[in-house]
Amino acid sequence: MPLVTTKEMFKKAYDGHYAVGAFNVNNMEIVQGISEAAKELNAPLILQVSKGARAYANHTYLMKLVEAAVIETGLPIALHLDHGDSFELCKSCIDGGFTSVMIDASSKSFEENIALTRQVVEYAHDHGVVVEAELGTLAGIEDEVNVSAEDSSYTRPEDVQEFVERTGCDSLAIAIGTSHGAFKFKPGMDPKLRLDILEEVEKRLPDFPIVLHGSSSVPQEFVEMINKYGGNLPGAIGIPESELRKAAQMAVCKINIDSDLRLAMTACIRQYFAEHPEHFDPRQYLKPARAAIKDMVMHKIKDVLGCDGKA
Ligand code: G3H
Ligand code: 13P
Ligand code: ZN
Repeated sequence: MPLVTTKEMFKKAYDGHYAVGAFNVNNMEIVQGISEAAKELNAPLILQVSKGARAYANHTYLMKLVEAAVIETGLPIALHLDHGDSFELCKSCIDGGFTSVMIDASSKSFEENIALTRQVVEYAHDHGVVVEAELGTLAGIEDEVNVSAEDSSYTRPEDVQEFVERTGCDSLAIAIGTSHGAFKFKPGMDPKLRLDILEEVEKRLPDFPIVLHGSSSVPQEFVEMINKYGGNLPGAIGIPESELRKAAQMAVCKINIDSDLRLAMTACIRQYFAEHPEHFDPRQYLKPARAAIKDMVMHKIKDVLGCDGKA
């Protein structure tokens, strides 16, 4: 099976009240850990590449790694550009074989967001590629952009219908209280998603797939493990998985997770070096890191997304 778009997987996810995981990939071990988990659970999968990942690993390497995942798993896998910030970047990924792109013009004015999104949609649809757009601004860090909590803003449900109609986008990322990175909320806080906004969006956009960015839950065991083995992360908590589970049963069809994989991988590597200071073969310390990513993704698929057995 070749790479697929998200069209069919979102339709099934919407109707089946679950979400598909979109996991960020930067190297071979990450691609392998994620795709082994999806294969074991027979889950559909979105592997996503940020501008930074592409600059780090190179378009062709990432493309070929994801194609290898398709061959090895036989699963429906979409290759998606995460947070495309320009028409040129989206075009380059479309021309280079991605099946889905995000144009993130959420920091621009409503009219500018529509104009840029529309331009990407026209090019993408001409080439059989689907487009995710964003309305509303998440807090947190992505690539070089750092949005403070005060500058973030929830999506206004009254805008979504006009936005989707005028842009022709295929899915919409909304801001309902998630945020990027590993430092979302202070310990002791009780973060809740604005599921009332999601419900309102769903009413105005029936049968339309919604996307949640910034959906890592920041597992404390990995934060503590990193700090136990010489790290210095400030205390922080993420999005409660119970809240994400509710969103996945609603109109949310795609949930983005990156930071939790980074935490799991880093915690394992730190532990490995603490326990084996004499080792220097990368295969020795990347093997448990890859296994930790696999465990993390299996947990997300089964307990958060609910997409196990849905490939
Ligand atoms: O939302 C951003 C993703 O976590 C990707 O992060 O831009 O550092 O690759 P990155
Ligand atoms: P996290 O930082 O919460 O993992 O979010 C990832 C993301 O939204 C990628 O686009
Ligand atoms: Zn994101």
